[in-house]
Amino acid sequence: MADDEASSGLSYASAGVSIDAGNHLVDLIKPLAKATARSGCDAALGGFGGLFDLKAAGYRDPVLVMGTDGVGTKLKIAQTCGHHDTVGQDLVAMCVNDILAHGAEPLAYLDYFACGKLEVETARQVVAGIAEGCRIAGCALLGGETAEMPSFYASGEYDLAGFAVGAAERDQLIFGTDTAQAGDVVIGVASSGVHSNGFSLVRRVVTDRGLSYSDACPFQEGTTLGRALLAPTKIYCKLLLPLIRNGSVKAFAHITGGGLLENIPRVLSKDQAAHLDAAQWDVLPVFRWLATSGGIAPREMARTFNCGLGAVVITSPSRADDVIAAIRSGGGDHAAWRIGHIKSRVENTEQVLIDNIDRLVEPLCTPPSPSAASGTRSTHGKRVAVLISGSGTNLQALIDDLNKPSSQHAHIVLVISNKDGVRGLERAQKAGIPTKVISHKGFKDRSEYDELLHQALVEAQAEIVVLAGFMRILSEQFVSKWKGRMLNIHPSLLPSFRGHTAHEQVLASGVRLSGCTVHFVEAEVDAGGIIVQECVPVLPADTLEALQDRVKAVEHKAYPEALRLLATGLVRLADNGQVVFT
Ligand code: GAR
Repeated sequence: MADDEASSGLSYASAGVSIDAGNHLVDLIKPLAKATARSGCDAALGGFGGLFDLKAAGYRDPVLVMGTDGVGTKLKIAQTCGHHDTVGQDLVAMCVNDILAHGAEPLAYLDYFACGKLEVETARQVVAGIAEGCRIAGCALLGGETAEMPSFYASGEYDLAGFAVGAAERDQLIFGTDTAQAGDVVIGVASSGVHSNGFSLVRRVVTDRGLSYSDACPFQEGTTLGRALLAPTKIYCKLLLPLIRNGSVKAFAHITGGGLLENIPRVLSKDQAAHLDAAQWDVLPVFRWLATSGGIAPREMARTFNCGLGAVVITSPSRADDVIAAIRSGGGDHAAWRIGHIKSRVENTEQVLIDNIDRLVEPLCTPPSPSAASGTRSTHGKRVAVLISGSGTNLQALIDDLNKPSSQHAHIVLVISNKDGVRGLERAQKAGIPTKVISHKGFKDRSEYDELLHQALVEAQAEIVVLAGFMRILSEQFVSKWKGRMLNIHPSLLPSFRGHTAHEQVLASGVRLSGCTVHFVEAEVDAGGIIVQECVPVLPADTLEALQDRVKAVEHKAYPEALRLLATGLVRLADNGQVVFT
């Protein structure tokens, strides 16, 4: 029974929990989990529990090693920016890097996703990130739980937790605390950024500096501050497990909450100290920016952040060079440095001593470029604003077309969405295009909302407005202000099959031909002078999704073409409503 079939009496759906949405999500994530299957399990979701066969995975005398964690307030940045595709990797990384510290190979992962309102696409993106993390770590996504908890979490908010189950042969387990010895070498392995700790301090720095996550990133060119901070946590398993298994690693510390100062002592005995030199590794620009922008003292940096080292390996002097060489040749951008050594601890002194600690707070030498986020985007031709509500594949087609060197006729100056957190916003931000969310909720009528929209377009000095999956009916006043300068794309051959159920209508009608239409916008919905049409066949076995995909493929050609015609003046709308091609 669907949620809306419980028509009489109170229902779970009316209390804010949609079983249908939950089921839909499970259907979407099943193949993602399945793709992580490995020896020992098939990662087929649906049972009450997840099974794992250690013998089939090749273990003789295994000891299970388990770790649990969350992502912390990095999630707030993901939710503010609408970038949900990387936090899943963070979640997996936090657990699998922890169990790696005992020499364990991650075998299986289970996650817990809790939210106020289940937005299926958001949850799918998060789980896709978790599956990607599992793939990188080599473990199976064996199960999970999705909890929709209205009024417990606000709508648009979610929290994540998960745990990894791993194993090591009993004689290959490592503890560190009883194996490292004075004279051993400390090797630092590069992190990919802040990873998933210290984000309350990161967010405080951003707020105190009056910055927004969509601003150009002050420490990395060609991206936004939000995207740079969301760089996913590096997963060290496949890189370091071979070294652990061949006995080269005496101890391994995952640099997680508590930074270098708190985590390295976890693998040392109380009478040992690690003596490091901060001049020996690259302190990533993000940390120097955080330190200088937030006025954070060097010791506080070392106690909060990984400062450029996501993993620390302790090895014997005779193996140190080989370990560094193996890490550097491990593919990807795995930098590793000899950063210090283990020595006997003088009583009542710190267990981690860092020479040249001021290097952690050295200012960035290159001043940020004001146009950093805009990269090499063209600023030629007509100023275009794109209005979206969802996935934004048409927006992407326009971005890609306008990024071609030959495209001098237009550039996108603003993307507005009436919904927060949609994929289209992410696409725009990735392309360095300014975005605005103007929610349609809470206005007394349509024109009040449209007025706000109009102001935003005027402020951005937009000359052409493109509706790309903008699921709002626009008021007559608004349409008249943009007459001849506003385009829409519709997924059928207009004037047939108007409205938001075009594909359903096409399939129900039995027509053998459909397609898409780009047209000037009139107050009447899905009407107005036609500029470009493209056809696709309707096949006997077509499902809604299959037809939609085929139509979208031609939309992505038709829309850039129509925009080109309008922006270059090759097409215009005459006063009598006729489309004139020159
Ligand atoms: C497109 O198929 C577009 O034709 C349709 O919304 C989809 C948006 O997709 N528009 C309408 O139905 C308007 N009546 P997108 O996320 O790829 O932009």
